[in-house]
Amino acid sequence: MQTTSWIPFWPDAASSFAWQVDYLYIYLILVSVAFSIPIVVAIFVFGIKFHEKEKYATPDEIHGSIVLETVWSIIPFMVSMTIFLGGAIVYYNQYRLPDDGMNVYVVGKQWMWKMQHETGQREINELHVPVGTNIKITMTTEDVLHSFFIPAFRTKIDAVPGRYTYLWFNATKPGKYHLFCAEYCGLNHSGMGGYVYVMEKDDFAAWQSGNVSGQTPIEQGRDLFENKLGCASCHAGGPQQRGAKLEGIFGHDVKLVGGQTVLADEAYIRDSILNPGAKIVEGYQPIMPTFKGQVTEEQLLSLVAYIKSLSGVTGTTTTPAAAPATAKPVAPTASPAANRTNGNANAPAGGSNVNK
Ligand code: CUA
Repeated sequence: MQTTSWIPFWPDAASSFAWQVDYLYIYLILVSVAFSIPIVVAIFVFGIKFHEKEKYATPDEIHGSIVLETVWSIIPFMVSMTIFLGGAIVYYNQYRLPDDGMNVYVVGKQWMWKMQHETGQREINELHVPVGTNIKITMTTEDVLHSFFIPAFRTKIDAVPGRYTYLWFNATKPGKYHLFCAEYCGLNHSGMGGYVYVMEKDDFAAWQSGNVSGQTPIEQGRDLFENKLGCASCHAGGPQQRGAKLEGIFGHDVKLVGGQTVLADEAYIRDSILNPGAKIVEGYQPIMPTFKGQVTEEQLLSLVAYIKSLSGVTGTTTTPAAAPATAKPVAPTASPAANRTNGNANAPAGGSNVNK
């Protein structure tokens, strides 16, 4: 970390893909310089060489040159393809979530970041993570657009209202790193930030055991489902079942009234809680009331986590894992469809990230 007060020339690099971003950036600068210098030199050389106005007023006629035109088409094409390839590789590494790792749920809110660990710890504007571990973040926002930006990790992604976006990193150096909101979101946008604390694994374990604070997302989701919101009265199964079956659906196609099918992913579960009438599962009546305005984004994340656990899926993993101890016992089924979840959700979110 920088201890001096001046602005560092190059920011800390503390994630597994930070060097890739840096190399790509250096490459872009070198390419720009390699094209800019000859242009500037040519301006001066021609300016001096052709400064006699009368002599060069009528230029010689040029009838084209196939060789020249081919060369100046192919070389820039090759150069731009290397830029494309470099960018694609970095993008692919950054926005394709690994299967294993630690899950963290993040909700942006004017003007703070709320973090929730899979193990139940909650933090505001601080995120403690172990070094050398894949950290997978599922993110949304309670109000407007925000953007989760950790410069030292060379990673940034928008938190978009009404949708989940995903980000991952693997921190390589213990330390304290700035966390920013990188999308103007109102009056206190500039104050919407904090720190990511990367800790040695032992230190993190100690932090974790010293900060147990109530329910895990799955437990909170189950509590909402069974008690506070009463979802279980229709969805729990048995003779009372009037709502669609939720066990084992995650990552699978669900048949809707009208013959369409939809992939039961995180976005679908969220939408079905807020706007239940939009996609009615085949064989059921449109009787579910909307929960819009009654549940916060944090609660929605917990409900989604719980409903996923009914299919044996935890966190943002792309393949169903074994059912955790906290989840209701359900036979986990392998689902190739689940692999589409992250791909779909990442593409647009990551795309908007590139432009900033
Ligand atoms: Cu949140 Cu800017």
